[in-house]
Amino acid sequence: MAASEQPRVFSGVQPTGSLHLGNYLGAIRNFVDIQDDYDAVYCIVDLHAITVWQDPVELKQNILDVAAAYLACGIDPKRSTVFVQSEISGHAELAWILNCVARIGWLNRMTQFKEKAGKNRENASVGLYVYPNLMASDILLYHANFVPVGDDQKQHLEITRDIAQRFNNDFTPEGEEFFPLPEPLILPVASRVMSLRDGQKKMSKSDPSDMSRIDLIDDPDLLRKKIGKAKTDPLPLPDSREELETRPEALNLMSIYSGVSRQSVEQTVAEHAGRQFSDFKSKLADLLISELEPIRKEFIRLKTDQAFLDQCLREGGDKAAERAAPVLGRAKELVGLR
Ligand code: TYM
Repeated sequence: MAASEQPRVFSGVQPTGSLHLGNYLGAIRNFVDIQDDYDAVYCIVDLHAITVWQDPVELKQNILDVAAAYLACGIDPKRSTVFVQSEISGHAELAWILNCVARIGWLNRMTQFKEKAGKNRENASVGLYVYPNLMASDILLYHANFVPVGDDQKQHLEITRDIAQRFNNDFTPEGEEFFPLPEPLILPVASRVMSLRDGQKKMSKSDPSDMSRIDLIDDPDLLRKKIGKAKTDPLPLPDSREELETRPEALNLMSIYSGVSRQSVEQTVAEHAGRQFSDFKSKLADLLISELEPIRKEFIRLKTDQAFLDQCLREGGDKAAERAAPVLGRAKELVGLR
């Protein structure tokens, strides 16, 4: 099927530091798995990154690093569209229109803003507050049907649908649904990888403890050390899913194992019931190393080839622009802009 006839997926990753196992299992590995089934558009969302202050020199490098990580994980820039958000001005233009469609009440319900802004909300950037509108713009600009993401993005997808619906209601002639309502694609396993130091907290780039996460650039020794030191509880591994649900650290490690080995959590429980954590951790570290080491090596290789990365992003930008231009044009027309 030609790309133009396939349903479209869109997703993005922020260039805010090195990517971790949560980004990989919750999102990027799925981007790779589905790239032939859809017209796949994968973005490096640098405009989202600057909603929180970024060092300009590091940001430039981080953008290229996400490009290298995408490719190292297996996204093929020939089959998928890989590009940088700020290079397609339509994202910001449509976001402005959507700022005028979304309601303040909707944004006030966003839990990620509350978490990121923390107690000092008055001092958060306005960009951080309207972040979900820019995300809706990313998705709607491509008329994406599906959005592969981790579990933490669910609420952002809900507001995207609300915004699309409101736009369709307010501006689209009877009978025309201009923006398709996008569906999230959230995996059943490992869609929320938790911190290795606290099974109740999400694994995150912003966690001050390096030991809380596995980064895609961790070498085998460091990875083994982090898994070895991961928090556990004193009991042997559970023998039922019900018991596992009551033990957050065991649940996290067993979910990671299941995600990497592409099997259900029930299967992992059945294989390891009653075993000691030490034994399980050593198997988990082996598994992670065999999955991530080829990615790390390819990432290091690609990082040294900036000319190639630049060329991929330029070509990806051209493909993205082609897809975005007619949608932005029609959206402006519907609103009554020239
Ligand atoms: P970001 O950059 O925080 O994360 C990128 C992707 O990784 C997923 N993820 C996780 N999955 C499982 N466990 C975790 N601990 C974990 N941490 C992160 C995220 O769910 C995400 O899929 N708002 C988005 C970026 C974005 C976007 C978009 C996504 C901007 N525009 C349009 C989709 C469509 C974000 O902050 O992702």
